Amino acid sequence: MTDSDPSRTVGDKTLCVHAGNTRTDEDSRRVGGPIRTPITLANSYHLPDDPSTVDWSATGASAATGNVTGASAATGNATGASAGLFYSRNTGANQLALQVKLAALDHGEDAVALASGVAALHAIFFTHVAAGDHVVVSDTTYEATWKLWSSLLPRKYGIEATFVDVTDLDAVRAALRPTTRLVITEAVANPTTKIADVAALADIAHGSGALLVVDSTFTPPPLYRPLADGADLVAHSLTKYINGHGDAMGGAVIGRAELIEPIKAEAMVDVGGVISPFNAWLISRGSITLPLRLAQHQASARHLAEFLDTDDRVAFVAYPGLASHPQHALAARQFGGRGFGAMMAFALDGTPDDQNRFVSHLRVITSAVSLGHDESLIVHVGTDGPRVAAYPDEFRRWGHLRFSVGLEDVEDLEADLRAALDATFG
Ligand SMILES: Cc1ncc(COP(=O)(O)O)c(C=O)c1O
Repeated sequence: MTDSDPSRTVGDKTLCVHAGNTRTDEDSRRVGGPIRTPITLANSYHLPDDPSTVDWSATGASAATGNVTGASAATGNATGASAGLFYSRNTGANQLALQVKLAALDHGEDAVALASGVAALHAIFFTHVAAGDHVVVSDTTYEATWKLWSSLLPRKYGIEATFVDVTDLDAVRAALRPTTRLVITEAVANPTTKIADVAALADIAHGSGALLVVDSTFTPPPLYRPLADGADLVAHSLTKYINGHGDAMGGAVIGRAELIEPIKAEAMVDVGGVISPFNAWLISRGSITLPLRLAQHQASARHLAEFLDTDDRVAFVAYPGLASHPQHALAARQFGGRGFGAMMAFALDGTPDDQNRFVSHLRVITSAVSLGHDESLIVHVGTDGPRVAAYPDEFRRWGHLRFSVGLEDVEDLEADLRAALDATFG
């Protein structure tokens, strides 16, 4: 691919193949140079022969660390991939290539890649909230987000958080204060699959001078791009769909350069939550097939959600693609017909023991935490714990099985579920 028409935007599959590859770098353009960004495990890069010419301001959070604005925004190529390289905590070659790619995929101005999804969330909070500030947080989120806001950040930094049901827009409005800096939600909540109306939340947040932060881990691009609906910052656990192979951890924040640059300067360079070069390389590589994998994940998830929903032994299925999901219409509109993700929660009409026995009878689907892997993963979560109070009635009554639908043959997954149901109920 060439830069001959930089203003032309390209398709999602093309972006996933090409964005962030080294190609404008002088060295790699020579005949025999690598067409992909090679792994550079070195943690330090050559300074100019005359050290007095080093531009120290370009070694931290500036454009040299990977803005995609410029000549090749259409493909998100890492223009001048070697420019500004200095030390891996300030962004090495593979981190830079990944950042360029992630900004391009989410149609954002800039991105920062960090060591894990939680490191990315913490980086946003650490950088954009200060002591005495207030945030509004969805009452249903991944556990670590809840822990950060229910105890760690208030206890350590005196930041106040109000938890609200983000589907109740009046409640969100009522929770805002003059000191509210952020409204924080997941696009599709882990684990209940509650859908946030991102455009409405963005309006509400902006009306009171706050930023909207959306964790879009369950809904990676091209399924959904929250920035287009008015979100200010998007967070992903790269560990999940974007890497997709269950073999590397990472996290990212994408948004306007003026919001990302302080995250790079403070949370990445000064606090050190940087992703390793090897993980950045693995995630860049894994993300090449993201649109293709997502299409298969989603097709299989929809099939299996319908299969489970019609079985009398299943008490409930929470999947945004089912017409029975309370925000099915919102999900269809917000995700623009591109799908409903591949995460669901369900429970058997039985005891906690039944749920555990069901899991123990599965042979293809693996009982393990995490999600978005090539491998189908299931985890049984009971009815105890402080977070469960905010879950819908059915989750509180039966507990739930959180199911991440993988890339195995859907017939094998359906047969596995059916056999485990039969074995559980005799
Ligand atoms: C919605 C969501 N956000 C963030 C994370 C944290 O990601 P990581 O495990 O990469 O830190 C997870 C992990 O499951 C998640 O489900």
